[in-house]
Formats: sequence, structure tokens, C-alpha cells
Amino acid sequence: MNFRKIIHLLFYYVVPAFLLGSVLYQLSVGSDIYHLVVEYGGNAFLLVVFLLFIKPISVLFSKVSFFRTLLSYRREVGVLAFWFAVFHSVSLFYYLNLFSVQTFFELLQSSALFLTTGLLAFLGMFVLGITSNRLATLKLGKNWKKLQYIVYPTFAFICIHKAQAEGEYGSYVVLAVYTVLKLLQYLKMNKLLFWRQKTGKAL
Ligand code: HEM
Repeated sequence: MNFRKIIHLLFYYVVPAFLLGSVLYQLSVGSDIYHLVVEYGGNAFLLVVFLLFIKPISVLFSKVSFFRTLLSYRREVGVLAFWFAVFHSVSLFYYLNLFSVQTFFELLQSSALFLTTGLLAFLGMFVLGITSNRLATLKLGKNWKKLQYIVYPTFAFICIHKAQAEGEYGSYVVLAVYTVLKLLQYLKMNKLLFWRQKTGKAL
């Protein structure tokens, strides 16, 4: 079995089975799952950061082949981020009793932005997660690429949600750094295109 297959197996099946097992075990022994599943949210955030940062970094440092190798694992990392986000969101929904309509609206009133950004982040992650497979790519055709753009508002919602959860602004700095990197990526790609059109050669 090659390395890619092992990563695929781990990220698609083994880790989610382990996350589900951990939550169910903690519930069965009557432990508090809150801190465990909040950690899952932190992991989802880090994975999404990796997922998004690797593209501009690999363009800006195009001579470093290691970044290109990492880039080729984006889909697998995305699926892992999806699992962490799903277990974080669904478990906290259960923990906070948000499946009850009354509690849901009560909590929405008291912590509107925090809960709204969490819900929107979950929705975005869910759509991206269920369309991260070959069948969806084939079925959606050109629209698949367009749909992937929802990763940007989703990332913004995750950053706001995290900042609100922790009461600090580190994730806004991450968002700002990402915006600068994307701008630099855009400028470099435009420069390459211009050079190619002018000279007919690659830079
Ligand atoms: C229905 C959706 C969601 C709900 C109800 C929810 C709820 C929560 C709660 C209650 C906390 C802990 C607040 C505290 O510090 O006491 C939290 C933290 C957090 N959530 Fe969510 N969340 C949701 C979706 C998401 C999604 C989709 C992501 C990321 C992909 C995410 C990322 C985070 C992060 C990064 C933290 C901070 C973790 C830390 O302190 O280490 N959340 N969330």
C-alpha cells in the first residue's frame, strides 16, 4: 500500500471512526464531552488554515517542490477538516440542547453572532465536504469549481466564530495574512501570464 492510500484510509475512515468512538465512549461513561469536542473545532480550524494557505505558498515559493507535494493532499486534508467540524458542531448542538427549538432560539438571542457564525461555518463545511468526491465533481461539472469558492466566506465565519469563542483576535490576524498571501499569489500569476503572452516562454 502506498503513502497516499494510507493517508486516504486514515483521513476518510480511521480518524472519523476514532472521533465517533471517543465521543460515544465519553458519553457512555458519563464524562463531560465539552472540552473534547471544543478541541475538535480547534483541529478543524488548523486543518482549514493548512488547506487554504498551501495554495498561495506553493505559488509564491514555486521552486520548493515540497509545497507542491503538500498541495496534492488538499482533498484528503479537506475531508479530515470536514470530519472534525462535523463532530464538533453536532456534538455541541447535542450538548447545548440546540435540537430543542426553544433552547435554540433562546441561545440565538443571547449569543447571536457566535452561534450564527458557527452555524454558517458548519453549513459551508458540510457543502464542501459532501461535494469532495469524484461523483460530485462529475455531476456538477464546471459548477463544481464555482461551488468551491464558498470556502472563502466559510473561512471568514470560522475565524469570527473562533475569535468570539476565545475572546481574542488571533484568528483575525490569520485571516488578514491569508488575504495578503492571496493578493501576492494573484499578482505573481498575473505577472507570469503577462510574461508568457509577451515572450511566448515560461518565466
Ligand atoms: C453548529 C455549529 C457550531 C456550534 C454550535 C459551535 C459551538 C462552539 C462552542 C460552544 C465552542 C466553545 C466556546 C467556548 O470556548 O466555551 C466553540 C469553539 C470553537 N469552534 Fe465551534 N461551533 C460550531 C461550528 C464550528 C465549525 C464548523 C468550526 C470550524 C470548522 C468551529 C470552530 C471552532 C473553534 C476553532 C473553536 C475554538 C476552539 C478552542 O477554543 O480551541 N465551530 N464552538
